[in-house]
Amino acid sequence: MEDNRNPGQSQGGYNISIIRPQIINKDIKLRGEGFAERRLASIKKGLRTLHTLELMAQTIYKFQITKEPGELNRRLVAAMCNEMTHYQDFQVKLLEYGFRPSPFRWAYWIVGFVFGYLSRLTGPKAILKVGIWVETKAVHHYDRLLEKIEWDEDTRKIIEKDQADEFGHINHWKELLDSNRY
Ligand SMILES: [Fe+2]
Ligand SMILES: [Fe+2]
Repeated sequence: MEDNRNPGQSQGGYNISIIRPQIINKDIKLRGEGFAERRLASIKKGLRTLHTLELMAQTIYKFQITKEPGELNRRLVAAMCNEMTHYQDFQVKLLEYGFRPSPFRWAYWIVGFVFGYLSRLTGPKAILKVGIWVETKAVHHYDRLLEKIEWDEDTRKIIEKDQADEFGHINHWKELLDSNRY
């Protein structure tokens, strides 16, 4: 996943300037054959959680974006695109395993909308603080799921890259908050 021809910002060994890594046709594989029932059950639960959280994340950013030109909006669009990639990552993994997304994920769309829209109404500082708070929770969630679940190697790498991206989001928002521009 590291692209050395285009050296970018590295986080935990992953290039986080790439916000939508390339997927080739052969990367899509049907998974889970021969896995124990318990392992499959934990992978299903973990993927559903991640897929749902990424729906919330992309919705927060989508509703935080305003029409104002500037670095904050540019970074919010980039973060939204990155979260859409994460969402796609976990939807693909769920279906490769023959699982389905959580039927309750719409509730997290609403939570994302509420967080995103209310912080946009409050202003740039609130946007940045909500971003830092939500992403910090996400990083811990990722930690727990990486530790607890026996992932297949491909899926583990995707989860690690996506977690590295979340660290990057925290740093982007902290940098803007500390710059006192907002
Ligand atoms: Fe994400
Ligand atoms: Fe994020």
